[in-house]
Amino acid sequence: MSLSSKSLHGLQLHSSSSCRQRRSNCISCSSGEAPNSSAAVSEKPTIHLATNGHSLLSLRDPIVEPLSRDFDPPPEPLDAAAHSSRLSDSSLHEDKEASSSSTEFLAKEISKRRNFAIISHPDAGKTTLTEKLLLYGGAIHEAGAVKARRAARHATSDWMELEKQRGISITSTALVFETDDHQITLLDTPGHQDFGEDTYRTLAAADNAVMLVDAGKGLEPQTRKLFEVCRMRKLPIFTFINKMDRPALEALELLDEIEKEFELSTHAINWPIGSGDRFMGLYYRPKNEVHLFEKDQSHGSKEASVQVLPWGDPSLQTIIPEDLYQQLEEEIELLEAVSQPLELEKIHQGELSPVFFGSAMNNFGVKLFLESFLKYAQQPIPHAADVGLIEPDYPEFTGFVFKLQANMDPKHRDKVAFVRVCSGQFMKGMKVQLARTGRQVSLTRPQKMFAQDRMTVETGFAGDVIGLNNPNTFAIGDTIYTGSRVVFPGIPSFSPELFSYMRNPNPSKYKQFQKGLTELLGEGAVQVLYSVDSGRTDPILAAVGQLQFEVLQYRMSSEYGVEVQLEPLGYSVARWVTGGWPAIQKAGKLYNCATVKDWWGRPVLLFRNGWSVSQLMAENSEIGELTPYALPPSEEH
Ligand code: G4P
Repeated sequence: MSLSSKSLHGLQLHSSSSCRQRRSNCISCSSGEAPNSSAAVSEKPTIHLATNGHSLLSLRDPIVEPLSRDFDPPPEPLDAAAHSSRLSDSSLHEDKEASSSSTEFLAKEISKRRNFAIISHPDAGKTTLTEKLLLYGGAIHEAGAVKARRAARHATSDWMELEKQRGISITSTALVFETDDHQITLLDTPGHQDFGEDTYRTLAAADNAVMLVDAGKGLEPQTRKLFEVCRMRKLPIFTFINKMDRPALEALELLDEIEKEFELSTHAINWPIGSGDRFMGLYYRPKNEVHLFEKDQSHGSKEASVQVLPWGDPSLQTIIPEDLYQQLEEEIELLEAVSQPLELEKIHQGELSPVFFGSAMNNFGVKLFLESFLKYAQQPIPHAADVGLIEPDYPEFTGFVFKLQANMDPKHRDKVAFVRVCSGQFMKGMKVQLARTGRQVSLTRPQKMFAQDRMTVETGFAGDVIGLNNPNTFAIGDTIYTGSRVVFPGIPSFSPELFSYMRNPNPSKYKQFQKGLTELLGEGAVQVLYSVDSGRTDPILAAVGQLQFEVLQYRMSSEYGVEVQLEPLGYSVARWVTGGWPAIQKAGKLYNCATVKDWWGRPVLLFRNGWSVSQLMAENSEIGELTPYALPPSEEH
């Protein structure tokens, strides 16, 4: 089969920019008080050009060259003057009065906002930490509600069936809560059995990541995969080492593992005093304070009681057992000697991770974490687009779709498109342009989530996530905007790990099969590859999680009436060939891999394991560069 060029063209996916350079801002020498991160962020970023011409991206690994067109010259940042001249030229700018907002007003709203996604391996405590953050953020008064409601929802059979079979989790998109000074959006990254490409895509909408590590286990496979995506986006990474109340690896060993394996510098903001049964509290380095936790009977459902004493207070030597006191003294000294300074610029570039220890279950260290996160996290960042950098305070509304979720409400078979707002002000009912089709769309019935409740949202600003109920209007990666045309670049395809031929055993269902496949691929449910053998036309589905296949199979049957068959292929790694078909030809016969082509006809090599990739690279240098990520070819303008 061949997919129409229209639908190919339609699938513009997104990554975010993050190519930004900021003034170095050493905050380690400011007596523990970090400067407001918004001050650093408000500086105009400069465009950082990559040598391969992908100026809009901050991919660490180079990506494959698009086939369809050469790259445009590097864009200039779109400053205010450029905005106004573009705007006055714009023939699309019908709703200017309603859609533009003053820069100062926007700046105020933006400076309040912080968003983040938690990356972790199942069971590290993501649900628990989320709940405790809501507790300390004042959004709930007693922890237990999120888990209890999740269980209650599972008890309603419709949802359970759908969630189980289709990987739909209403909790898995964005939770919003407010503290006195901030509005915080937590973008949930689906994990467990519903781990899939959506998990990666969610990171395209985040400005910060919290890496949650189980203190007893250290780095685990899912965390590693998600870390790579954060690294590719240069996301600031805040590390929370959880479960210190359980037997834990040595704190120094944990930092060492992160530094060595991820080549990521660390700066411990707090330091544990003991672990397991002897976990007593934390030393808070910026203020040289000891925070001693007092266990209570609430089992973590209420905020923890904390006794704060300055380091050097004589009573500490009587409270903390001698061996732990001595160990702490030595480790503090060591940290002071070897620690990297806490530079805001490095944090924001994703080069230095502030590290926190604690126990989410017991609320130990959660408050310190939240307070520090709000100090050091970056506020909504500019996004690179075809016309230049779109600053969050660019007065026109812009945003992109990073996730589609079908049938959130089973009664209405609705589809919700989750949009990351990049600039301007979103307003309920506003009319926007959809860049892919050029059509105007009314954004009615927008929603946001608070805990599990959906609320209608009236307005939104850069950094916010909004759910739009527009069935079949949006595809993953779509740009929507008011004012001049803006197109954000695509979300990369990530190396799939599971591959299966998909067959339609019933030729009379050919049309439904094609329709279902095209629509579901358009939604980004799975990736698709094709054999280079023209006799083999069955699509090869490619996914990062098994559930993606099951969802697709289920939806082909329930929505399109086609019972498809899947035939698994024994590969687990995909690599795009940067040099394209000429490199394949030059390399000649390739061993231990299969050559296929992606949706855009570009060569992809499938391997059984990572070792085979290294072997090929070692034995056949003619193949050139192989990359684990690929962007869709750029849009024609
Ligand atoms: P996840 O979303 O990352 O999968 O993890 P989740 O929060 O569900 O936590 C996984 C298990 O780890 C849970 O235990 C949870 O209570 C426990 N946990 C989370 N944080 C801590 C911590 O700081 N200390 C200790 N000791 N345990 C922690 P469970 O028995 O699977 O579930 P539950 O019965 O406690 O809900």
